[in-house]
Amino acid sequence: MQRLQVSVPAQPSKCDVLIGRGILSAAGTEIRRRLGRRAQRLALVSNKKVFKLYGPAVVDSLEASGFQVSHWLMGDGERYKSLKTAETALQFFSEHGIERTDAVVSLGGGVTGDVSGFAAATYLRGISFVQIPTTLVAQIDASIGGKVGVNLSSGKNRAGAFHQPRVVIADLETLKTLPARELTAGWCECIKQGAIGGRKLFKQTVDYLSQTTGKRMAVSLQLQNLIAVHLAFKASIVRSDAREDPERKDPRSRRILNFGHTVGHALEELTGYRRFRHGEAVGWGMLVAGELSKNLGLLDQSELESLRAGVRLCGPLPAARDIDADAILNAVTHDKKSARGLVQWILLERIGRPRIVSGNEIDVAILSMSIRDVLQKRNYE
Ligand SMILES: NC(=O)c1ccc[n+]([C@@H]2O[C@H](COP(=O)([O-])OP(=O)(O)OC[C@H]3O[C@@H](n4cnc5c(N)ncnc54)[C@H](O)[C@@H]3O)[C@@H](O)[C@H]2O)c1
Ligand SMILES: [Zn+2]
Repeated sequence: MQRLQVSVPAQPSKCDVLIGRGILSAAGTEIRRRLGRRAQRLALVSNKKVFKLYGPAVVDSLEASGFQVSHWLMGDGERYKSLKTAETALQFFSEHGIERTDAVVSLGGGVTGDVSGFAAATYLRGISFVQIPTTLVAQIDASIGGKVGVNLSSGKNRAGAFHQPRVVIADLETLKTLPARELTAGWCECIKQGAIGGRKLFKQTVDYLSQTTGKRMAVSLQLQNLIAVHLAFKASIVRSDAREDPERKDPRSRRILNFGHTVGHALEELTGYRRFRHGEAVGWGMLVAGELSKNLGLLDQSELESLRAGVRLCGPLPAARDIDADAILNAVTHDKKSARGLVQWILLERIGRPRIVSGNEIDVAILSMSIRDVLQKRNYE
């Protein structure tokens, strides 16, 4: 088992991140070690599919460490990342006698983690939270950093909080049951982290994908190391800018994690969260951000080719050619990452070197052309 620590300034507790193979059975001991003896009850939040696969092992482990566990299964899918789901979770905690010294445990992907973390952040003004991420997206990204929240009809993640988990337990064995598209989505987020994080991280990710594409998911030490470096990268960004300071525009600001997300979120919204997995939409979003960077003269063609090759290695992306480019343009101007009404674009100067550019510095005609070039041309399919 590998251990990492994510400590965030001004946060009373640090967050330990544990990565390993077959470590679900250690969940009880690890959680008990951090919550102490006063914690009696745990509310485990999952969904039907994930709970069926991993719930019994987790519950056994938690009960063996003396916890009383009640589980609540939320709906499966982005559309359940809502205030209504959070409210039902809060009612559940209340009805099951969860107290301030108790905790919420999320078992599942980013959707479960975001909603249950949001409920944990608000229940009794905030109780302890534990993440057991079971998707690649959640293991390398969503479970780290303390951003929790739900979507509103006006956009993704519009209601939320910063609430660090006490511990993250990432068991790589759970990735074996992930459908191919969920892996593609996760790899897209890995390529994103490489593209903004550094050439080394990008290359390590691309090398791994080149060697494993088309093969069955093997839970190897190489995969464990790759996930560990991605986690460490995310943790380093969170440490340097825990609350995503809106004034920061430097290449280590937390905002750079939104690379590919401006157009990605627009695609998700315009297709009612049904067509794309979140990471797949980010895959398209990175291609648009890369094309835009090139068209603005920031990024060399050869670097753009590397980005394209990286995204291609993640797997096929659902078609986006039928989505109206003007609707995307309109949607990106409402992206929540806007500051004073301006979208903040994360662009690239080269692989590993992001640049934050305000929407008003970008010619709409170039933006429109970049969107059309990527989404409607065959060379991206
Ligand atoms: N909080 C953050 O910092 C952060 C960062 C990145 C993404 N997110 C959010 O995370 C969400 C996406 O998360 P996701 O990609 O994990 O999606 P998800 O939670 O919807 O999970 C994807 C699918 O895989 C299933 N699943 C989960 N684990 C499985 C397993 N081990 N085997 C088989 N099936 C399994 C789920 O039931 C679901 O159907 C989005 O809402 C996104 O906004 C949050
Ligand atoms: Zn994302």
